[in-house]
Amino acid sequence: MNVLLIGGGGREHALAWKLAQSSMLDELYVTPGNPGTMRHGRNVPLDLDDPRALRQLIIDKRIRMVVVGPEAPLAGGLHDRIAADPQLKDLVTVIGPVAAGARLEGSKEFAKEFMIRHNIPTAAFRAFGRDQLPEAIAQLDHMESPYVIKADGLAQGKGVVITSDRQEAERVLKDMLGGNALGHAADRVLLEQHLSGTEVSAFLITDGQAFKMLPSAKDYKRIGDGDTGPNTGGMGAVSPVPFATKEFMAKVHDRIALPTIRGLHSEGIPYQGFLFLGLINVDGDPFLIEYNVRLGDPEAQVILPRLRSDLMDLFEGIATGTLSERHVDVDGRACVSVVLASEGYPGKYATGKPIVGLDLVQGAHVFQAGTAEEGGRLVTHGGRVLCVTAFGKDIEHAILNAYTNTALIDFEGKTHRSDIGHDLLRDPASKGGGGSGVKLGVK
Ligand code: AMP
Ligand code: GLY
Repeated sequence: MNVLLIGGGGREHALAWKLAQSSMLDELYVTPGNPGTMRHGRNVPLDLDDPRALRQLIIDKRIRMVVVGPEAPLAGGLHDRIAADPQLKDLVTVIGPVAAGARLEGSKEFAKEFMIRHNIPTAAFRAFGRDQLPEAIAQLDHMESPYVIKADGLAQGKGVVITSDRQEAERVLKDMLGGNALGHAADRVLLEQHLSGTEVSAFLITDGQAFKMLPSAKDYKRIGDGDTGPNTGGMGAVSPVPFATKEFMAKVHDRIALPTIRGLHSEGIPYQGFLFLGLINVDGDPFLIEYNVRLGDPEAQVILPRLRSDLMDLFEGIATGTLSERHVDVDGRACVSVVLASEGYPGKYATGKPIVGLDLVQGAHVFQAGTAEEGGRLVTHGGRVLCVTAFGKDIEHAILNAYTNTALIDFEGKTHRSDIGHDLLRDPASKGGGGSGVKLGVK
């Protein structure tokens, strides 16, 4: 089968690498891809907003499956466009939801209302529109600090503010609802009850009826060691997460994943693809913070290497509505990924710096993200440049393997965290929150 993969980051390199291992794959096309995906398929240019160009590519290359890495094309209705095209609809399976399903990520208010309709444990909330600033400020009087303030729409990781300072909370509400921050993403703003606990991400794959849980992961969003500095797309990831025990994950399955898939079905939202559950463990009980309608990045770079099953077989299960008959087999070892970024990221950074040492890497995978080939040389081309992923018999050994290889790779301005996974070693039974000022250590 010929597959078109959409995206060009580390997650997509990991997807391309995993798909290329399948005997069911014939040709893999990636758009836009990166020099890493080029090793497993062919990178092709494509304007996703041009439906004719997409149709032409699918027909010319005999593509039967379109796998969407990032959320934006899904929110933009890529799946809907293919499903509405008489020439394509019976030909092509899209891995990734229609726009109505992508709203689970695209609108936090929609997601919260969905959770409440389906009795999914989540923090209490209220939502306010542009003309409701006084009501939003008055609501702060009924809430306990810290205040959790969220822009409704997609805001590239900048849409959530958590503060114990009442003045700052008012200022943030004024900025967001007053139109000075985040644009249309803040047309509506949510005030949420603050939950204290440890964070973990769970992932599943579904054909809309059946679903299979994938390995859990924890990512490290802040740029600096000890969860300091600004938020990034993610500076590293660990899988599995020790405090996501069998018992905890059974609760995630029963209380969150199952009512979500049933809820989507009962609301007539056809959902196929990956679903990412951002969770907080409050005294052993999972609460859902957010949905993402895709795999995380860099979480995919630890989840996919741990997946022993053929990913094409799972996708085939989606295509034929037989996912219930497929098996998810997971490598029991620990997997750690460390992101190598350009100096200055997530702010301004230089590009075009030659990357050396990839040939020295042993016993680890290097997934490329912000790279380019220039005159036969690999150079930096983005904020997050590479992701070094390694296995170990436990997290400690996986960390050692990942960092040993991280040290072999070099480019001017190479920046990375040196504490990925360390919090999980100190107190493996309970720790693992981190980021965003969330109180840790409930248990
Ligand atoms: P989100 O963009 O929804 O993932 O939120 C970003 C981060 O804010 C999450 O990863 C949590 O660390 C934190 N957060 C969001 N909502 C809450 C909440 N209700 N209580 C505590 N922390 C939260
Ligand atoms: N690493 C978080 C995300 O992909 O949203």
